[in-house]
Amino acid sequence: MPSTALRERPAWKALAGHHSEIAGRHLRELFAADPGRGERMTAEATGLYLDYSKNRITDETLRLLLQLAEESGLREHIDRMFAGDRINVSEHRPVLHVALRTPKESSLVVGGVDVVAQVHEVLDRMEAFADQVRSGAWKGATGKPIRNIINVGIGGSDLGPVMAYEALRHYSRRDLTFRFVSNVDSTDIVEATRDLAAEETLFIIASKTFGTLETMTNARSAREWVLAQLGDEAAVARHFVAVSTNAQRVTEFGIDTANMFGFWDWVGGRYSMDSAIGLSTMLAVGPDHYRDLLAGFHAMDTHFRTAPFEQNLPVLMGLLAVWYGDFFGAQTVGVMPYDQYLKRFPAYLQQLTMESNGKHVTLEGVPVDYQTGAVYWGEPGTNGQHSFYQLIHQGTKLIPVDLIGFGKSLNPLGSHHDILSSNVFAQAQALGFGKTEDEVRAEGTAQDVAPHRVMEGNRPTNVLLAEVLTPYRLGTLVALYEHSVFTQGTIWGIDSFDQWGVELGKVLAVAIIPELESATEPELDHDSSTNALIRHYRTLKD
Ligand code: F6P
Repeated sequence: MPSTALRERPAWKALAGHHSEIAGRHLRELFAADPGRGERMTAEATGLYLDYSKNRITDETLRLLLQLAEESGLREHIDRMFAGDRINVSEHRPVLHVALRTPKESSLVVGGVDVVAQVHEVLDRMEAFADQVRSGAWKGATGKPIRNIINVGIGGSDLGPVMAYEALRHYSRRDLTFRFVSNVDSTDIVEATRDLAAEETLFIIASKTFGTLETMTNARSAREWVLAQLGDEAAVARHFVAVSTNAQRVTEFGIDTANMFGFWDWVGGRYSMDSAIGLSTMLAVGPDHYRDLLAGFHAMDTHFRTAPFEQNLPVLMGLLAVWYGDFFGAQTVGVMPYDQYLKRFPAYLQQLTMESNGKHVTLEGVPVDYQTGAVYWGEPGTNGQHSFYQLIHQGTKLIPVDLIGFGKSLNPLGSHHDILSSNVFAQAQALGFGKTEDEVRAEGTAQDVAPHRVMEGNRPTNVLLAEVLTPYRLGTLVALYEHSVFTQGTIWGIDSFDQWGVELGKVLAVAIIPELESATEPELDHDSSTNALIRHYRTLKD
């Protein structure tokens, strides 16, 4: 079978040869030979400092990776995205989440429409609504102001909102309660509503398509909960708003489009947290902080679009991900934020990275003959250190790790923050340089125990450092990973903006629901395993 275009690129071939020279070299050796790399292999943009020196690379690796970016047409692909070309080829759509944070004074005309003007029209409506709710001017059906806001959505209509709410809690209105219902498991909505009064509760039904089974099921249960307490269909207008691209379905559900905040099919679900999907974020932190969030996104967009690749944070991180995934065979990337407020950031990144780059064919539909998207995962530091870091330090798998730290805490308390931050540096040091058998022995460790205490090191890390977690900083961090994903997807020549792989399971579930609900024994014509599972389930539920 002929190789794909990627494998034929001179830089790819050179990297394959170069890898065999580099693979056996230790970071200890690379630092000894080049003591300045800790200062040199760094880049800074928007106030975000990236130290990528503890990666298994030399200047030559970097040169070849940058050459690969050029040969893969990354520059042109970036320009095409920002120009609104239809780079989501399988859905024939432009990919314009960058327009969501483009300042009002700019314009971007796509298909004869200024999408920036459209964005700001919705933002202005969101602001007016947020001001009403936050000031108490928006009244529930019984005349009481709103005290509880529940976002009902799933995937990109949930993960961004919940991550941003947690990340920006410091900036949020503490007298308002925010909850997020995503799972169709009834426990989610029952627990989210059990201690609340419907007359003080506003539901945001967030769904790009307004057809997602989980969200629609939860939305109907939310409406029943409201009607059970308030009795009157008219209450729906005071207690439900919708965020969607589908006005018709919103209307069919019973929500007045006056209470709908729109977005567009050129915003992918996992790229939508700064569209109207961010309404809960705006309600929590207020319009000014929300504008700061958008400004952070935009600052990183501008950096990505204009900075030379060798100083371009998302490009560097994306290329390093390709280097480990395709040449070292690394299967996963760990992202460990050393900030409790970022506890949902790894979960958010899972959708962003894995739904984007978990692809098996190229843009032309040809099966890839190389690795694509890695498994992204993580937990906030230092908690992860006391659970799974052992495997990263001494296990048999190579797991590149991003460590994210801040100079200041939003909740300074004694020496907590320096203790927390010392762990960022210590982990990167331990992972990179480890501990040799001689060093272990020199500590007086018994011969039989020494091998267990040896730390091989040579585990790569990126360290990201910023001053403090603000809305602006959150915007830069999310955009950094969005564009790193874009860089990786461009190298691999895949469509990072569709998600056909999630469809089959949805269709099969819809076919199975009546078989589970049927009062009489249904005819089952699945495979024998699925048939047996359904039959067994039916005996358990009766
Ligand atoms: O099933 C995957 C998916 O389509 C995601 O891409 C999306 O973010 C999520 O479902 C929710 O979709 P919607 O916002 O249309 O309800």
